[in-house]
Amino acid sequence: MNKKINHISIIMDGNGRWAVERGLVRSLGHRAGIKSVQTIIDAALVRQIDTLTLFAFSSENWNRPNDEITILMSLFNESITKYMHELNKNNIKVEFIGDIERFNSTLREKIHKLITLTQNNTGLNLNFAVNYGGKWDIANAVNSLIREKGHNINYPITEKDIDDYLTLSNNPPDLLIRTGGDHRLSNFMLWQHAYTELYFTDCLWPNFNEVEFDKAIKYFLNTTRKFGGLVNIDDYKSNV
Ligand code: IPE
Ligand code: IPE
Ligand code: MG
Repeated sequence: MNKKINHISIIMDGNGRWAVERGLVRSLGHRAGIKSVQTIIDAALVRQIDTLTLFAFSSENWNRPNDEITILMSLFNESITKYMHELNKNNIKVEFIGDIERFNSTLREKIHKLITLTQNNTGLNLNFAVNYGGKWDIANAVNSLIREKGHNINYPITEKDIDDYLTLSNNPPDLLIRTGGDHRLSNFMLWQHAYTELYFTDCLWPNFNEVEFDKAIKYFLNTTRKFGGLVNIDDYKSNV
């Protein structure tokens, strides 16, 4: 039985539209989105999910207007300060994936503080993907491999070699949820999602809650995972 959900990844999309629908500025949508983050972390804890990976800022989100980027950065800053002790108290181990070097030093320090504070926790593994791009991740893995192995690399480079250096590839997501109605990956963990079950919902991220989360889990539980094989070889034989 391969139906246990160890790892759920989420593309948290639709904050801007949620705000615009209400005649509000987009930044209020991002603020409202933080509440959903809190709700879904709590829901993951209650449902004993091992790992939750949340896409918070893509490497392409730098294409947004400066004002929106500035607001997003200050919301990240503010949220880490506000929630770090609660996350720690809940035994959550927080990690970040993505190129955080592009963030300013204040935010980078806060990120490191949160990682260090929670590093020995044994409950939920919570990963935030920030300034993250799937193509960056793959290029970064290849560069790290070459840097560390130097002339000792065995050619051809194998999938296993890349797996060893890619973020979270030892624990790929079982279920990907994308809110906000679009059906695309937007450069999110391109390699790691190779065999993930994909769930898309029109629900905008600030409206996403435990009920919507359970719908996604139910969808997952009703899928048949085959990984290129056959579920039941005898059923197949009777059909050839
Ligand atoms: C997702 O919501 C949050 C980030 C990308 C940071 P959006 O800001 O993309 O919201 P929409 O898609 O414009 O509604
Ligand atoms: C994906 O949402 C990135 C995050 C949710 C962080 P976007 O809103 O940036 O994706 P596109 O631009 O619609 O593909
Ligand atoms: Mg969007």
